[in-house]
Amino acid sequence: MKSGHGWRVGNMSDLQFLPGTRHRTHLKRPMWIIVLVSFVCLFLLCAYIYPPNSRSACYVFSSRGCKALSDWLPPAPVRELTDEEIASRVVIRDILSTPPVRSKNSKIAFLFLTPGPLPFEKLWDKFLHGHEGRFSVYVHASKDKPVHLSRYFINREIRSDQVVWGRISMVDAERRLLANALKDPDNQHFVLLSDSCVPLHDFDYVYNYLLYSNTSFIDCFEDPGPHGNGRYSEHMLPEVNLKDFRKGAQWFTMKRQHALIVMADNLYYSKFRDYCKHGVDGKNCIADEHYLPTFFNMIDPVGIANRSVTHVDWSERKWHPKSYKARDVSYDLLKNITSVDFSEHATSDEQKTVLKRPCVWNGIRRPCYLFARKFYPDTLDNLLNLFPNYTTL
Ligand SMILES: *[C@@H]1O[C@H](CO)[C@@H](O)[C@H](O)[C@H]1NC(C)=O
Ligand SMILES: *[C@@H]1O[C@H](CO)[C@@H](O)[C@H](O)[C@H]1NC(C)=O
Ligand SMILES: *[C@@H]1O[C@H](CO)[C@@H](O)[C@H](O)[C@H]1NC(C)=O
Ligand SMILES: *[C@@H]1O[C@H](CO)[C@@H](O)[C@H](O)[C@H]1NC(C)=O
Repeated sequence: MKSGHGWRVGNMSDLQFLPGTRHRTHLKRPMWIIVLVSFVCLFLLCAYIYPPNSRSACYVFSSRGCKALSDWLPPAPVRELTDEEIASRVVIRDILSTPPVRSKNSKIAFLFLTPGPLPFEKLWDKFLHGHEGRFSVYVHASKDKPVHLSRYFINREIRSDQVVWGRISMVDAERRLLANALKDPDNQHFVLLSDSCVPLHDFDYVYNYLLYSNTSFIDCFEDPGPHGNGRYSEHMLPEVNLKDFRKGAQWFTMKRQHALIVMADNLYYSKFRDYCKHGVDGKNCIADEHYLPTFFNMIDPVGIANRSVTHVDWSERKWHPKSYKARDVSYDLLKNITSVDFSEHATSDEQKTVLKRPCVWNGIRRPCYLFARKFYPDTLDNLLNLFPNYTTL
């Protein structure tokens, strides 16, 4: 299509056949008005089809015309913020502008969200051993009190409460873990993990990756489909707009500042508690998949990496991700997971678009994942055997 319309208009030989100025002077007045009106109509039609902020508008009207057009339109009305929004924004702004404290004793807080026992305690023990003073462990066991096998987990349980999958109680448990971990001023980065999560690298690698990252790793993407924007409720207005609504896996890591902001937030939290749940407008909104992605997308979009550092395999496209059994766990599998350096998000609409983006760490392309799920307890022995091999990749 190289000899398309655009090329031919600019061709000198074609230009000769265009009506010259001589013809125009012969047009009668009503004819002129009709021509003018049609031009205005065409212009307005184009302006309607191509909104002034889209690229195609700039192409149609040229960059100068594009600017002028947006100048003519009345400015979008600025909504007056509520008292709660003003209060919330000043607190968030101040926390974000406080430079992070980097003490020699900076620790990573590992927050385990589990119904009961942790099948991979022995593996975590191996991972943490020799790094005392550079980490702390917190366990939120919502159903059964675990019996601990590792010295690093004994007496590390916090007061817990019931957790129902997909409900706000999940977010409450995450906040409870963050609050307890924030009590220790040396905790500088906070990692949420489940009972089926395993480490993919040695401690030093994970420590440096997280502590020296200039972003938090909060999964966040826009899903126009029924399991994304379809879960939004207009009851969240005026504070939460559909255009701000995001989705992401709950397994975050966050910097201390961001953890403090989560503690400080009541306004947006209460919107999700009240309107992102089962049954509002006949929808089934999952609070832990939407609250933090939407909240951080609104208050500090450049401060989050928009991806998780916890790998999970959704490629089977089922309700639950792939769970690895003992026979699946091999050196090859772990090598494959640790070498992935792009993140993928699949939308839930009919197009099922897969959004693929390179994983970036402080501006550098790096492998995405530090942890992986979901592993059945019977994979423990394999993982223990392979741990020294795959973590030194
Ligand atoms: C995350 O997404 C937001 C909004 O789309 C964007 O502004 C920000 O730059 C992204 N963060 C990174 C680290 O790419
Ligand atoms: C690892 O990745 C390679 C190349 O993509 C693939 O052929 C192989 O089946 C994968 N192995 C496992 C165990 O997933
Ligand atoms: C993180 O570092 C990269 C590379 O220096 C930079 O491009 C990016 O803007 C930084 N992000 C933040 C939130 O400071
Ligand atoms: C792991 O590495 C050790 C030492 O290099 C080797 O003896 C062992 O066979 C390796 N295990 C596997 C499963 O690759």
